[in-house]
Amino acid sequence: MHKYPIPPYKIKMVEPIKMISREERVKKLEEAGYNPFKLRSEDVFIDLLTDSGTGAMSHFQWSALMMGDEAYAGSRSFYRLEKVVKNITGYKYVMPAHQGRGAEQVVIPELVTKEHMYFISNIHFDTTRAHVEIAGARAIDCVIKECFDLDEYHPFKGNFDLEKLEEIILEKGKENIAGIIMTITNNSAGGQPVSIENMTSVNKIAKKYDIPVIIDGARYAENAYFVKQREKGYENKTIREIAKVAFDLADIFLMSAKKDGLVNIGGIIAIKDNEELFQKCQTNIVPKEGFPTYGGLAGRDMDALAVGLEEALDEQYLAYRIDEVKYLGDLLKEAGVPIQYPTGGHAVFVDCGAIAPHIPYDQFPAQAVSNALYIEGGIRPVEIGSLLLGRDPDTHENLKADKEFMRLTIPRRTYTLEHLRYVAESLIKVYNNRESIKGLEFTYESPLLRHFTAKFKPVE
Ligand code: F0G
Repeated sequence: MHKYPIPPYKIKMVEPIKMISREERVKKLEEAGYNPFKLRSEDVFIDLLTDSGTGAMSHFQWSALMMGDEAYAGSRSFYRLEKVVKNITGYKYVMPAHQGRGAEQVVIPELVTKEHMYFISNIHFDTTRAHVEIAGARAIDCVIKECFDLDEYHPFKGNFDLEKLEEIILEKGKENIAGIIMTITNNSAGGQPVSIENMTSVNKIAKKYDIPVIIDGARYAENAYFVKQREKGYENKTIREIAKVAFDLADIFLMSAKKDGLVNIGGIIAIKDNEELFQKCQTNIVPKEGFPTYGGLAGRDMDALAVGLEEALDEQYLAYRIDEVKYLGDLLKEAGVPIQYPTGGHAVFVDCGAIAPHIPYDQFPAQAVSNALYIEGGIRPVEIGSLLLGRDPDTHENLKADKEFMRLTIPRRTYTLEHLRYVAESLIKVYNNRESIKGLEFTYESPLLRHFTAKFKPVE
């Protein structure tokens, strides 16, 4: 690596962003009930809420949009997308979906064939967990414990705890396991990668007990890049070859294409060879997403996605992508700000439990630090901690998250290193004034998915 990452693209179109005054930010945050989800994006200077659908398309993708075939059935755009997905995955059956959760709502219920079934994942993403539960099953996570040791280097903190995986299967009974979901990279664990070795073992266990393996591959290309960098035997393989090895180790691929598809909207369902499952999903997709050759997308969206999928496998693009996240992480770490180390693929996860130990978990330290960062720099992060986790459905007590994370999520090909330096400087200022940050209490809390709509006031 150079002293700093250098982007393998230049800027052709710009979108102005505007910094409102500190006074206005204080007012806007109060109006938003101290919940960054409720801010208008025009009041945000640098938006690090998510890397989902927030990236920039290339001029090849913008040109491809013009080729969109908007036929309801059998559009040319679908066949272009299908060809690319088949090529990358080696899978036989492909359907588009409007986004990741659209793919989930079509496939997951078809895998739940009876009552009291379970899915096991390294960590289920929130919407995946929701669709598992809506389908009447339960979601169990089993990531390695090293994942939560923030300071210790481990090359694949997203890995499955293989012993625990097999224990769960034996305890619940193999006939009750609807599927094993490999989330690559492991978003909720900090965008940490999963090794091919680990996926190989997961696949072996799954085959032994005859359980289908699903890849939740929103960021599968970033995962393949980490494998190339860190796993012995893959140094000289291409990203595409590594991704193919991963796909060979699963049966079903679900993708939020808003990440490594490099598009603003889109999702993918691909099935290796199970024709019966494909037919069931074809029936299920019509009332939920749309006809199987558009799945909720415009023809032009499918064309942009077909091009984006190829671009995201480019190694130079991925090197810059992963290095810019590391660049931000390094600036923070050098200044003493506690972060998850090493940084993952799409975000820097900041340990707000350590920044604000004076704020109890049920006054949401990571939300409080996020708000302070908005006031300081007009930057919008997202809380991944006890606020997101919610309440125990039986006792209604606030659950305590393992870590009170604030996620600084980096959109793809969107911000420059100057922006990231500014983010680091702003957060370092917040860190140096950390004793003054106050906890939050609810003034409104919705019974479900409360983090999106909750309102708060600072605890005096
Ligand atoms: N799976 C993973 C691993 C995800 O990160 C997401 C979305 C989804 C599935 C659902 O996809 O949003 O297209 O419906 N993650 C976003 C985030 C929202 O901010 O991490 P979707």
